[in-house]
Amino acid sequence: MSQLSVDHLLGIKYLKEEDLHLIFETADHFKEVINRKIKKVPTLRDITIANLFFENSTRTKLSFELAEKRLSADVINFSAAQSSVKKGETLIDTVNNILAMKVDMVVMRHPNPGAASFLSKNVDACIINAGDGTHEHPTQALLDAFSIREKFGEVAGKKIVIVGDILHSRVALSNIFALKKLGAEVKLCGPKSLLPKHYESLGVGIELDLKKALQWCDAANMLRVQNERMDKSYFPSIREYTQLYGLGLPLLKSLNKEIVVLHPGPINRGVEISSQVADSDQAIILDQVENGVAIRMAVIYLLASKIMIPV
Ligand code: CP
Repeated sequence: MSQLSVDHLLGIKYLKEEDLHLIFETADHFKEVINRKIKKVPTLRDITIANLFFENSTRTKLSFELAEKRLSADVINFSAAQSSVKKGETLIDTVNNILAMKVDMVVMRHPNPGAASFLSKNVDACIINAGDGTHEHPTQALLDAFSIREKFGEVAGKKIVIVGDILHSRVALSNIFALKKLGAEVKLCGPKSLLPKHYESLGVGIELDLKKALQWCDAANMLRVQNERMDKSYFPSIREYTQLYGLGLPLLKSLNKEIVVLHPGPINRGVEISSQVADSDQAIILDQVENGVAIRMAVIYLLASKIMIPV
């Protein structure tokens, strides 16, 4: 397989297992490129990409922009907070005005689930979902799975636990799709109030006891409590959450084996993960960030190849 089966990256749900392997093999090449003295390739000199962020971001926004620049694409950045969205312009009007400036590809983060899919059906451009509300964050899941593959050699057969606020997390859903397609075993762990019951239908296990979940797994992905998405209290206090579901060094060291710790960022140090764990040798958080650039280069390159050489 040399081309992706999709024309947009809207969610991991729509990708085949072969797409994931193709993205990883392409990212292997780009990871080697970004570690060279000259980190740039001329591959996408004819492509213009618009990064549209309707919601805050540090890692994803900078990582996409860097990936685009490393591929020599022309890049424009749009932030809703400083735009005519504030004057009432619709999403489709906004994007069509940007496309009229001869833009080929749109990377979009939006607070509404389904926004990327909606856009792909209503405008004439390749769309990459950089996170749509509580729905999917496909490039995050790709870089997480790529980092697990890098650490263990492969994802198939590995036991991964995703810990924390699953209910409000687009990272959790995309990770579940990616890890299951790649043959990993997946468990979710967190307070019952933050574990959606219907997720069991996706073939994942549930473990309410963090220590048992950590004893079982090869790698733990520690998610942030997303207070900004909560309309009510889901647990008595942050202190109690940290006692039951926070990963501190004493708990990590009490396990009968060494596990790998992931976190998508931003970290709430001292809540879901302690500084000692986040900064320990077992955490691969900054490797994830480095791999994010290579993964986004791969996704952009593979989708752009379909624009440049339509089949
Ligand atoms: N992991 C992630 O999506 O981080 P940002 O919100 O900073 O982009």
